[in-house]
Amino acid sequence: MDRAAIARAKVHFGRLVEDQMKRMELLADSPEWIDYGKLRTLRIGILAGDGIGPFIAAEARRVLEYLLEDEVKSAKVEINDIEGLTIENRSSRHQTIPSDVLAEIKRHHVTVKGPTYTPRTGDPWPNLESCNVAMRKELDLFANVRPVRIPNQQIDWAFFRENTEDLYALGPYGLEVDANIAIDFRLISTPGSDRICRLAFEHAKKNGRTRVTCVTKANIIKKTDGRFLENFYRVAKEYPGIQADDWYIDIMTAKLVDEKRRRDFQVLVLPNLYGDILTDEAAEFQGGVGTAGSANIGKQYAMFEAIHGSAPRMVEEGRARYADPASMIRAASMLLQHVGYGEKSTRLEKALDICGQYERKVRITGRSTGATGKEFTDYVIGKLEETWEEYVCA
Ligand code: IPM
Ligand code: MG
Repeated sequence: MDRAAIARAKVHFGRLVEDQMKRMELLADSPEWIDYGKLRTLRIGILAGDGIGPFIAAEARRVLEYLLEDEVKSAKVEINDIEGLTIENRSSRHQTIPSDVLAEIKRHHVTVKGPTYTPRTGDPWPNLESCNVAMRKELDLFANVRPVRIPNQQIDWAFFRENTEDLYALGPYGLEVDANIAIDFRLISTPGSDRICRLAFEHAKKNGRTRVTCVTKANIIKKTDGRFLENFYRVAKEYPGIQADDWYIDIMTAKLVDEKRRRDFQVLVLPNLYGDILTDEAAEFQGGVGTAGSANIGKQYAMFEAIHGSAPRMVEEGRARYADPASMIRAASMLLQHVGYGEKSTRLEKALDICGQYERKVRITGRSTGATGKEFTDYVIGKLEETWEEYVCA
């Protein structure tokens, strides 16, 4: 047995535990929720990202400028581009989020972010950590809220994915013990699961939802999923009017395709990786990951993004302008909702539903057989001015 490897592993593990204990102290001191209503000027930053990002982010910006025209004029809202969150800049600086870009992000209250490329072994880029994951950790964006709505199938799901812990938290800090053994670490904390479960129940309460479902694999992953589930039921006791139940992730993935059961789920709360996987599956029913938005919410900052990647192949093949901007526009709508422009957000959601699910006069195919992202966005903006009684009842 390689005693030196064991000793190295013990030191490594000890450091991880120490870091997490420090993180728990920071969490205990973390500031309270920001009140957007009290800001003199709300600053919205647009991070274009890589690949198709700049194309779809520009469309989301256009929609925001349209809906917030008066607020921008009266300086209640500022919308700015934040440059530099590109794989080229990140690579040459050897920083997942270059420090000046991070400072600029923190100067804004909320951001809309295009997909950013995450390098993997074998790429020409240095093997940087995922920008999304780094941003979620850096700004403590602990809740990843992903709604999936298919009104004509009575599907209305709100996923609350924990966003700062689980296998993601220590993803870059795994251990190559020796030539045979590699170990990654999974982390679930009581304050971490408590705050995401609480947010899910609060959402249910505010929106008249009657059921919150927790998804784990606590029968097998006993310590971490066990802790998450325990916290879930403890928080549930504070919400006696809301039904709380739990499912294992394997059967949950099956139940989402079960037409008899799936419309019964309402609010779902789950650890990071299960949330990552299940929300891609859920988005597929709604028309694909290109149609879903994702809100990364923390007490001080929030970032809104598409749930898909940067699609470098579309750019290589000259198809970037045919990329579907719907996910980024959904993200913009979630931003509006989050900062207190609920009516504008609802209007935008409905326009997106009409354009993407009902009327579908302008269709995106991802290539020159369909419309460009700009044409689709013009279609959505046009619908913002119509009244839609007949669609709402469809
Ligand atoms: C998502 C994405 C990210 C994740 C990637 C890009 C790091 O898949 O937002 O779901 O795994 O969280
Ligand atoms: Mg994902």
